[in-house]
Amino acid sequence: MPTPAVRTAIFPVAGLGTRFLPATKATPKELLPVIDTPLIHYAIDEAQAAGIERMVFVSHPSKSAIERHVMDDARLRAELRSRGKAELADELREASFPEGSDEVVFTMQDQPLGLGHAVLCARDHVLPGPVAVILPDDLILGQGCIGEMVDAYRRNTPGHMVATMQVPAEETRKYGILSVTKTEGRVLRADGMVEKPEPSEAPSREAVVGRYILDASIFDDLAKQTPGAGGEIQLTDAIARGADRVGLAGLRFSGQRFDCGSKAGMLRATLHLAADDPECEAVLEEMIAAATAGTLAA
Ligand code: UTP
Repeated sequence: MPTPAVRTAIFPVAGLGTRFLPATKATPKELLPVIDTPLIHYAIDEAQAAGIERMVFVSHPSKSAIERHVMDDARLRAELRSRGKAELADELREASFPEGSDEVVFTMQDQPLGLGHAVLCARDHVLPGPVAVILPDDLILGQGCIGEMVDAYRRNTPGHMVATMQVPAEETRKYGILSVTKTEGRVLRADGMVEKPEPSEAPSREAVVGRYILDASIFDDLAKQTPGAGGEIQLTDAIARGADRVGLAGLRFSGQRFDCGSKAGMLRATLHLAADDPECEAVLEEMIAAATAGTLAA
């Protein structure tokens, strides 16, 4: 039987973004820019490049700016045109979805009850087959990570697939760590995951980051799950529970991942992209020279 296609991507964007307060008090974390491009934009581009047909955004009523950003704004375009900025108006239209498009659905998670709960909120809006989940605050540059996963999934049919990267032993306590049973090139067969283990307890150094392809049975597993600490429904618990039944694999993606949910990660991503941006490159060199000379804080 051919592997069913991955047609839907779920974007959980309903979280509180507490690590970025006060920036995220009125501006959703997912709209924070790296240079001039909001995080959500990178995530949408990645899904489109992977051939995703439908994007389901699980948002919160207080984060309506995300919907305004993602959907076309005909009034803004008309205003730009009337000011002689037709080219900019066209660019905005190309980078957004028209009203009524089948390609995009917004649904609400009224309370941030965890990533697993957010994914469950998307259930009624997904197309048949496995679903991709993309966390926009995990920015992955280079080859599109979800595209690599869709390709690997098609060839390997693992049931659930998670994106993984190797971390130093002392960092296992920051991540979900995959329990690897067999390595097949970049595909890691696994029999479970352990949440934030101490280095001595970690089953490997393969850390799970914010890209998943999940067998459709994930929704039943999430619906059955009893909430854990803080009333949250964890996605990793449901994945681990389904691993025996449907299978689990990790994919060592080729790109570079930045944790843009943290200040340090956001700064790293900004500096990384600044090095390739003609407007920012010279500033970056200036700052490096000043830092080297010890005059930066002066
Ligand atoms: P995070 O845990 O990184 O985001 O979730 P957060 O909770 O918003 O941020 P902090 O930790 O308080 O700073 C990863 C992704 O999952 C979404 C978030 O919006 C983010 O895109 N999320 C998280 C939900 O949609 N619902 C939730 O209940 C939790």
